[in-house]
Amino acid sequence: MTDVAELSWKQATDLTGKVAVVTGCGSGIGRATARQFAAAGVTVYLGDVNEETGRATLQDIESAGGRGEFIPLNLLEAASIDSFADEVKARSNGAFDIIASIAGIDRIEPFLQNSPENWDKIIHVNYLGPVRMIHRLLPAMIERGAGGKIITIGSDAGRVGSTGETFYSGSKGAVIAFTKALAREMARYRINCNCVAPGPTDTPLFTVAMEQKLRESLVKAIPFRRMAQPYEIAHAIMFLASGAADFMTGQVFSVSGGLTMHG
Ligand SMILES: NC(=O)c1ccc[n+]([C@@H]2O[C@H](COP(=O)([O-])OP(=O)(O)OC[C@H]3O[C@@H](n4cnc5c(N)ncnc54)[C@H](O)[C@@H]3O)[C@@H](O)[C@H]2O)c1
Repeated sequence: MTDVAELSWKQATDLTGKVAVVTGCGSGIGRATARQFAAAGVTVYLGDVNEETGRATLQDIESAGGRGEFIPLNLLEAASIDSFADEVKARSNGAFDIIASIAGIDRIEPFLQNSPENWDKIIHVNYLGPVRMIHRLLPAMIERGAGGKIITIGSDAGRVGSTGETFYSGSKGAVIAFTKALAREMARYRINCNCVAPGPTDTPLFTVAMEQKLRESLVKAIPFRRMAQPYEIAHAIMFLASGAADFMTGQVFSVSGGLTMHG
């Protein structure tokens, strides 16, 4: 027997009054997630290396009546990650419920043309940077004792591979495995850790990084024959951040129009 009270769908999905940390807020999926969270009554602490676009997202949120703060974050620099996390803890008094680690980069080229400098950059922005940030934020979440939700962004490239994205696939595979292992350690604190794996999504990362011909053939392979819109990935993140996902942890949630149907 457990003492978990039954919640209605409305209660479980209500995010009003929650506090979220969102990285990659300056563009694409991070921007959509920040805006959608804020519109649902969540106070957002926003991070991005691009201060101009990051602050523009905040302005957008505030002019729609939402609440948030922007703090510069460069996932390539340990000192920047530490000061971002420390600022979030100080400004929120350690009271944040959700970490949505969304910022990421890609580089599409055949493996034999890769340069080790790019490996270094991708592994830091996509994997080691988020790991350092979560490591720095988690003690406050645990100490508060109110549980929490950590959502990382992987990619199906990290589960099934993707031509021209060998190293990116490796970085996303690392994110997925990290999220699963963290989920096991954090369950005792009622902190759920899940990973969203977006399919091709209409953001600069996809539309700028990939040649038009390649993009078109990829979209043709999607059963729904279209890319995702960033808000559709945001909604999956919000579901995992809500009470409706209280019993889900260590899962990879693909939002890909059926491009990947992974068991
Ligand atoms: N768009 C897709 O098709 C797709 C598919 C699968 C996974 N993803 C993943 O979704 C996430 C978001 O991607 P997107 O498509 O919205 O990309 P995007 O390029 O639109 O946005 C990425 C954001 O991350 C920020 N960023 C980049 N380097 C940073 C750094 N060093 N420190 C802090 N912030 C930094 C950028 O400034 C930008 O605002 C990424 O993790 C990406 O790998 C995207």
